Amino acid sequence: MEVLIGSDAIQSRVREIGRQIARDHPAGVPLLIGVLRGCVIFMADLMKSLPIPHEIDFISVSSYEHSSQSSGTPRLVKDIGRDIAGRDVIIVEDIVDTGYTLEFLRRTFLARNPASLKTVALLDKRPRRECPVPIDYIGFEIPDRFVVGYGLDFAERFRHLPYVAALSPEELLPQPTARSVGAA
Ligand code: IMP
Repeated sequence: MEVLIGSDAIQSRVREIGRQIARDHPAGVPLLIGVLRGCVIFMADLMKSLPIPHEIDFISVSSYEHSSQSSGTPRLVKDIGRDIAGRDVIIVEDIVDTGYTLEFLRRTFLARNPASLKTVALLDKRPRRECPVPIDYIGFEIPDRFVVGYGLDFAERFRHLPYVAALSPEELLPQPTARSVGAA
């Protein structure tokens, strides 16, 4: 495992993004919609860095299914629980890879007539982009490596790490699941 972005660098970048979002929303109360589950740590830190009133909700989209490759066909697993018509909505993503998930979310939310729709992504894996999507606030651009930590997982592991690290090809081999470990 190779650390790509240390904890201090993440914290100061998240604080900057919070200030930037606050400057861009002087009057409104933006609704942050976090994309579960990878967003959780970023979302919490971003909220603490956002010095304006804001509301939160969460959505869950599935596209990876325990592998390191996107299937390219996002599916809504859990929707938000409110009407977003007339709201200033900000999608909070952990990472934009091929772009299909974000494109799917943008289409889904735009159809619900928000006043505005923006996206903040902690990580932008731009070399892998297949679907060009606008991202308004980007934490860091990263190379084409599979990364974990700060909420991001590989087969549900490594989310707790306070930094972002890239896994080696050996570390990306299929991992034993909780069930297979218990059954051994
Ligand atoms: P996309 O639809 O290919 O842009 O994929 C977006 C989703 O894939 C993200 O929200 C993550 O959940 C997941 N993902 C993409 N790349 C990585 C990675 O390097 N590590 C962990 N999850 C990733």
